Amino acid sequence: MPIQQDDALSRAVSECPGDITIERASGAIGVEIQGIDLSRPLHAAHLELIRTALFEHCVVFFRDQTLTLEQHKEFTALFGSLYLHPNFVASGGDPHVIEVVRMPGDKKVVGEDWHSDTAFAAQPPMGSVLYAVDIPPYGGDTAFSSQYAAYDALSDGMKRLLEGLRAVHSDCLTAGPRVGLNADRSTKVRDDSGWQETRSLHPVVRTHPVTRRKALYVNRMTTIALEDMAEAESKPLLDFLYAHAARPEFTCRFRWRAGSVAFWDNRCCQHLAINDTWNFPRRMRRFQIAGETPV
Ligand code: SIN
Repeated sequence: MPIQQDDALSRAVSECPGDITIERASGAIGVEIQGIDLSRPLHAAHLELIRTALFEHCVVFFRDQTLTLEQHKEFTALFGSLYLHPNFVASGGDPHVIEVVRMPGDKKVVGEDWHSDTAFAAQPPMGSVLYAVDIPPYGGDTAFSSQYAAYDALSDGMKRLLEGLRAVHSDCLTAGPRVGLNADRSTKVRDDSGWQETRSLHPVVRTHPVTRRKALYVNRMTTIALEDMAEAESKPLLDFLYAHAARPEFTCRFRWRAGSVAFWDNRCCQHLAINDTWNFPRRMRRFQIAGETPV
């Protein structure tokens, strides 16, 4: 099937040894790369291709990988220091790994609303590498949305309005004793009495440090208000931005198989885990990469 590639991606592919094929996942976001074995030391040109695809297309998919925990960790660490999540209860034998598990009977899944990971942190992770261990026969897809595309599609008037605005982000909806998530979910977060809310202020529009492109940066799971505004003022604007950020033309939907990998750039996309695996288990392993203060 013919594919449309941008120049940077074509150049990066042409520098690669071996037989590499790439396929766009949708018009706005996502590239699947075939021909790289992530369990082996990567050629510099493969690394460059993955970086190029990630920064421009926000999420890179791979198929048919076999990754031990150590290999998964080593691959992730090629892109930066590993991020230690403050709220997930470690369960996978390494403090950095998060086992994202949905078991029969669970009512909730990790990340079931549109979000950027861990945006409540002062320095949210730059990306995540999610590996599929055990996948249901149907269901359990993940959707991704380009926040470059979401920003670009706003009117000039809305862009001017958002310029300089900051949003308050918190983990009060995703962790702690009050949300009671652990009763409905196999993947546990901290809910002990010593847990304390983390709040951060981030620009509503952030600039990607590598591409310099602007991306919308508010989401339903961590944004709780706009700075210096009453709820009645900020809520309608946030509701508009949440709906806009997830318009179908900015998205792609990834159908997992065991051994699939999704590597997303958390600075320019949002994602959502679709909670429809019914009575089948779904087991994923995730490492995150440390990021910078959004500007
Ligand atoms: C997440 O990182 O939000 C989980 C995504 C997924 O399990 O598909």
